[in-house]
Amino acid sequence: MANRRKSSSHGGGGGVFDPFGTKQAVWSLRKGGRLPVYVAGVFFVLFVIIMYGEDIRLLTLDPVERAGSTPMHALQSEGVTVKGHHVARVNAPRLEVPSAEKAAATLPLDVDERPKLVKPTEEQAASKEHPKVAKISKPKKPKTKKKTRRPRTARKTMVPAAGLLGVPETCDLSKGEWVFDNTSYPLYREEECEFLTSQVTCMKNGRRDDTYQKWRWQPKDCSMPRFDAKQFMEKLRGKRFMFVGDSLNRNQWESMVCLAQSALSPGKKYVTWEDQRVIFHAVEYNATVEFYWAPFLVESNSDDPKIHSIQHRIIKADSIAAHADNWRGVDYLVFNTYIWWMNTLNMKVMRPGGQSWEEHDEVVRIEAYRKVLTTWANWVNDNVDPARTSVFFMSISPLHISPEVWGNPGGIRCAKETMPLLNWNGPIWLGTDWDMFHEANNISSGAAARRVPITFVDVTNMSERRKDGHTSVHTIRQGQVLTPEQQADPGTYADCIHWCLPGVPDIWNLILYTRIMSRPHDWYIN
Ligand SMILES: *[C@@H]1O[C@H](CO)[C@@H](O)[C@H](O)[C@H]1NC(C)=O
Ligand SMILES: *[C@@H]1O[C@H](CO)[C@@H](O)[C@H](O)[C@H]1NC(C)=O
Ligand SMILES: *[C@@H]1O[C@H](CO)[C@@H](O)[C@H](O)[C@H]1NC(C)=O
Ligand SMILES: *[C@@H]1O[C@H](CO)[C@@H](O)[C@H](O)[C@H]1NC(C)=O
Repeated sequence: MANRRKSSSHGGGGGVFDPFGTKQAVWSLRKGGRLPVYVAGVFFVLFVIIMYGEDIRLLTLDPVERAGSTPMHALQSEGVTVKGHHVARVNAPRLEVPSAEKAAATLPLDVDERPKLVKPTEEQAASKEHPKVAKISKPKKPKTKKKTRRPRTARKTMVPAAGLLGVPETCDLSKGEWVFDNTSYPLYREEECEFLTSQVTCMKNGRRDDTYQKWRWQPKDCSMPRFDAKQFMEKLRGKRFMFVGDSLNRNQWESMVCLAQSALSPGKKYVTWEDQRVIFHAVEYNATVEFYWAPFLVESNSDDPKIHSIQHRIIKADSIAAHADNWRGVDYLVFNTYIWWMNTLNMKVMRPGGQSWEEHDEVVRIEAYRKVLTTWANWVNDNVDPARTSVFFMSISPLHISPEVWGNPGGIRCAKETMPLLNWNGPIWLGTDWDMFHEANNISSGAAARRVPITFVDVTNMSERRKDGHTSVHTIRQGQVLTPEQQADPGTYADCIHWCLPGVPDIWNLILYTRIMSRPHDWYIN
């Protein structure tokens, strides 16, 4: 109970959480528990970890938020005092969960914590990183843009439309290989993007190898364009672009901001915070690139970026309006939700008509996930104007906590990885929950037959090969870069969920960019 208490009081009940602190706790957690009480503690920890992984960003942002529209500094000053980490730490160390509980409760987090996963199945916590800004300075972009309009080749159409970038919509960008390319990558320099937070600036945080920044994604059947910030901002002129979801989507938001910001003049770009939103303003284009915190998409008791009930994660599977009202009128919506689902095998779902969070049932995870995504897809279909808004759903961002799975039994989580998994024959089992992947794909794709199409963006398989891309020990905790002592203990502190920037999330955004720019301006004419 003690553990649990702590976690709840620190992390849950409390005011501002320190995402990083939370993280630490997570890392430090261990399986093995014996006592139910400890189990509870474990849950907390896991929640904290997962949630905070994501929350951290937000929390980080919080301080800034208070400051008003403080730009980068704010973001970078992640060192908000969080009450949570202490808790996390405490809990983390050696909680032991009863086997039954363990199975149910210790999913992603456990996995993270414990490098030695035995059962990947439960470990499937998702980890995403934030894309970083790309260097725009390099004019290597293929100028094969065809300004030809192809009204009829609307998005979901199977007709190969080359669009502006010459990338047919039929080309499956998810299949391909990572190619070393140190002339075109990274797309931007870590030190060039003032909007990156310390959580993802791995080199600044002491990482020595930078090869992870130099991998180009080469689709099997076509070529990816180079990110052109000016063209992209022109496309966004007078528009709003919004990521909605958890900390991995926040990471991707960071990447998108960095990719785009080079097209803007100094002083004409800044970040503001507003409730659950973080907003990047591109003044010269009257455009914004935003992130909206909604880790489950639907309403939950975890929706306050600052104050969560870590202990009890409860969702309202049918209620989405409180969030969705903030999505109306946005021109590009990019959703995700995964890692917060991975704490337990069952999800607590509030009963219809329930008056309090206490009135809930335990629902098998995949069932609850389906229900929530259905609620979400229905909202999209009923409320989005397909002539104006493009909708995307990001697939699972994989974790890398079990080096033995990719043939490195001497590894410690992802800490010693400096190369992608290349030339790997056969599947690797990282614990990604492919059932949830397919569920999300089906529901998104199913929307194709409906009024508002949703594009499912598959980044999971390609990212599974990027064991080298995570922040590992080159990140922050409690707002502080890990100490040398902590960095020397990757088994406890390595974050193998989020990603360094520049890095993998840049590629995810490049895919979004490709899809967005390839669509003829007048596709909506249809
Ligand atoms: C790119 O990598 C190759 C092979 O490692 C190396 O010879 C070359 O100097 C590198 N170029 C740059 C610009 O770093
Ligand atoms: C700026 O963009 C918003 C939409 O995001 C639009 O409503 C507004 O009219 C635009 N303002 C100008 C001056 O173009
Ligand atoms: C997704 O849809 C396909 C085709 O309709 C179906 O075979 C498959 O079982 C579905 N998967 C899930 C997880 O719903
Ligand atoms: C992932 O990619 C590899 C390499 O292209 C391929 O062999 C494998 O079948 C893919 N797995 C899935 C689940 O798509």
